[in-house]
Amino acid sequence: MIQFGPEQHEQIAEFISNYSGIVIDRLQPKRLGEKVIAEARRLNLSSFEDYLLLLKSSAGESTRDSLMAKITITESFFFRNPSQFRYLGHEHFPQLYRQKKMKGLNEVNIWSAGCSTGEETYSLAYIASWFQLTHPDISFSITGTDINIASLEKCRIGCYRPRSLRTQVASILQEFAMPLGRDSADGFLIEEQLRRITEFRFANLRDLSSLKCRKGLDIIFCRNVLIYFEDSFQQELICMFHNLLQPGGMLFLGETESLPTRHQFFELVPCCGAYGYRRPFEK
Ligand SMILES: C[S@@+](CC[C@H](N)C(=O)[O-])C[C@H]1O[C@@H](n2cnc3c(N)ncnc32)[C@H](O)[C@@H]1O
Repeated sequence: MIQFGPEQHEQIAEFISNYSGIVIDRLQPKRLGEKVIAEARRLNLSSFEDYLLLLKSSAGESTRDSLMAKITITESFFFRNPSQFRYLGHEHFPQLYRQKKMKGLNEVNIWSAGCSTGEETYSLAYIASWFQLTHPDISFSITGTDINIASLEKCRIGCYRPRSLRTQVASILQEFAMPLGRDSADGFLIEEQLRRITEFRFANLRDLSSLKCRKGLDIIFCRNVLIYFEDSFQQELICMFHNLLQPGGMLFLGETESLPTRHQFFELVPCCGAYGYRRPFEK
């Protein structure tokens, strides 16, 4: 019988926080014990202590991946906070296009950090592809990363159930008049054109070496991710995002996440009824 009481809860919470930055109390901690015990049994381990040792060991990579896939909150849907996507298509991409042209550049790099099952990344690809219809001389590279390897697999498959298509999707699809996917036996499959400009890979935001991010990004989406982290780690990430963005680059957070109005690294930008944050241009 594998024991899981308050002491074990504290130990696993500490491990999860050190490994991923996630504060376990901000997830659904009630079922944590059941999940941990199920994982230990799956690995034929007879005690919580053996499981924790494996998690912490250099041979524990797949054990860590499996635990993270069980505990992370993966809620996501297409065009979540649609104002930010409208702002990109109608205002930001045209400005960015002009700035790139003036510098003789033609590539836009976007990072969707904590992309979950891919709805956010493909929503970005959708607006980017729409913009390319009238600006074919600009190229987009959109990277979705996450710590949850099961979610990343779903991103790569790119097949979604109608549940992911909430009300805002119909109005966006009508406004931009472009297909997002086509019907398949299991739901709908993302259009080939959107897949061509996206890639998905594992990255743990807690582990800088796993990020493999180029500097000079144009846009970072990190929405509904920071809320799970300790305040000090949130600040570290904001600082890292600032360093990775170009001057003038934009950071987008979730609807319930915000930076102080006068932030040392970012300027608040109204975005068609929502907000984004800009790394100031160099003077
Ligand atoms: C609620 S989902 C948000 C999905 C999407 N950004 C959206 O707003 O619809 C949060 C995602 O953050 C990911 N996540 C949590 N901690 C992470 C970490 N340390 N590194 C990378 N991703 C992480 C989770 O796996 C999950 O997929």
